Amino acid sequence: MTKPRATPPGEEIKPLVEVPPLLLNPILEDQGAYPLLRLDERRRELEERGVETFDFGTGDPREPTDALIRQALREGVTETSRYPTTTGKRELREAFAGWMGRRHGVTLDPGTEVLPAAGSKEAIFHAPLAFLHPSHGRRGVAYGTPGYPVYERGTLFAGGEARPVELDEGDGFLLQTGAVDPGETRILWINYPHNPTGATATYEYLERAAAFCREHEILLFSDECYNDLYSGKPPPSILEVTKERTLAFCSLSKRSGMTGYRSAMMAGDPELIAALKKLRPSIGVASQAFVQDAATAAWNDDEHVERRRRIFDEKRTLFTRFFGRIGLKYLPTDASFYLWVAVPGAFAGDDEAYAMRLLEEGIVVAPGRSFGIGGGGYVRVALVPGLEECGRAIERWERLSG
Ligand SMILES: Cc1ncc(COP(=O)(O)O)c(C=O)c1O
Repeated sequence: MTKPRATPPGEEIKPLVEVPPLLLNPILEDQGAYPLLRLDERRRELEERGVETFDFGTGDPREPTDALIRQALREGVTETSRYPTTTGKRELREAFAGWMGRRHGVTLDPGTEVLPAAGSKEAIFHAPLAFLHPSHGRRGVAYGTPGYPVYERGTLFAGGEARPVELDEGDGFLLQTGAVDPGETRILWINYPHNPTGATATYEYLERAAAFCREHEILLFSDECYNDLYSGKPPPSILEVTKERTLAFCSLSKRSGMTGYRSAMMAGDPELIAALKKLRPSIGVASQAFVQDAATAAWNDDEHVERRRRIFDEKRTLFTRFFGRIGLKYLPTDASFYLWVAVPGAFAGDDEAYAMRLLEEGIVVAPGRSFGIGGGGYVRVALVPGLEECGRAIERWERLSG
């Protein structure tokens, strides 16, 4: 055996072959550093020191998933395992169509107008892949900002051109189609009830958005993830207005407390659904059969959702009364589980500084800037912790305002 040759002290070890730098998709390179690193680090420090924290940062509520849904999941686990199909089980598509009928008065053909997804995040991310191509004259995808970041990500990875439209408090954070250039736009995303602001759209607004898209041959994609969480008038679906060149993206994550199950539905124009049916087998994102069974139980039942609505309403009332008492400005809403709060004057509009100060009291909120341009100057409060915890967090928050 030959002994490995020792490198003389002070001499650099040279690799035998030069390893070229790893080339990444430039979209990954351009993503930049995670903007909330400082907040995350400070939170970890506090938690390590044993400081109790209250997480109003991520939109993942703690309420238990209804027993009926968990039971359906357990019963769905079979002895042998088979690949699920892209189109999913007929019962699931029928259950969803049944909900659309009860909730929105919309009739859907479960065979041609409905398609399941493994959560709406992947559905939103992948959808542009079916409808954009470098050879197309129009590759722009418009979406509101601040907003859910996946509209942009999905656009860029599909080779599209991201066209953020800044939302304004004066317009109730409703995306103004006047700011969308029809000459370059192929897809328009809307999202009401809106993350992060909780803004809601009227039927008339949806009618105007649909008319604009029809006139300019733009595909209209409506992210309706929060549609079933409201305490006043039920928010409308775009499908109540039209199905033509339109899709609604609906999810069980928030409606039924199933964020960990990964189950959502796309519905609308059969031509668009047919295109997605062609695309999605290449991606392989069909939900497990037992998740589909749980999802079927969830879409078939509205009572557990009514109970969830009441819980979020109680939390919302608790916080809006508190904000009113201490004079914090927020966007009034009765839908979603978010409150969009203007940073108080003492922080001169610096949402990160305000979030950092709240963190010192153990309260975690999301600085508005993390939702894109136009989000600065606000923080998002996700009504995620339980009611009792919300009460304790308010006591801490009050200390800061006093
Ligand atoms: C606006 C919006 N759309 C879609 C999603 C994705 O939800 P899911 O993938 O859990 O269905 C979220 C999650 O927070 C969201 O806020």
